[in-house]
Amino acid sequence: MINASQVTTRSSHAMTRQEKRNRAVNAAIEDICAIMESGASVENLGQAKARLIALAACQDLFTFEDFPLPEDDAMENSYLLHEYDDGSYSLYVNSGAPHQYYAPHDHGDAWAVIAGVQGRERHQLYVRRSEDDPGDGPLIWKGEFVVAQGEAVTMQPDGIHEVNAMDGQPLLHLHLYAKNFVLQGDRWKYDLEKGVAEPFLLDELGSVFDAR
Ligand SMILES: [Fe+2]
Repeated sequence: MINASQVTTRSSHAMTRQEKRNRAVNAAIEDICAIMESGASVENLGQAKARLIALAACQDLFTFEDFPLPEDDAMENSYLLHEYDDGSYSLYVNSGAPHQYYAPHDHGDAWAVIAGVQGRERHQLYVRRSEDDPGDGPLIWKGEFVVAQGEAVTMQPDGIHEVNAMDGQPLLHLHLYAKNFVLQGDRWKYDLEKGVAEPFLLDELGSVFDAR
């Protein structure tokens, strides 16, 4: 039983921005989870991309006020918005400084969807020459995509991308991975000029904050 005063209190409770954001995030992840259940196919990733673009369209929920840029000369701050208990479906807000640049790198065997909220980010996509040897240096260039508001890019589990902020402006984008950074395990980055691969170390990332 609840009395009238409790009803009044409950109905007048305005959701905070964080509550609104969590609700929108959870709804999007549930949809994407259902889409991806049958595997990381191009078609499924295409549908997941459309759903993440729809989430990224809620611009009032994803602001530099709530997800500040690094205060030092770091390239980015990452804010965890969602992951399941097993570390899957991890969604981050990435606030990137204007000088953000990452040489070509993989995400272990995790697929990824990256959708823009503010700023433009250039993604050069590559695949390895050899499917069996992730440490095989030379890469095959597959294309260039610009992630901005209303746009997103997807990566297959064997995908590799090179990323840079554009226009001398900061970035605020949503990054969804099949699993979180820790579980992505052994990762590689690639030196295009030398044609060699090196391990990508977790501490090369900026700070990661829990914003759930
Ligand atoms: Fe990446």
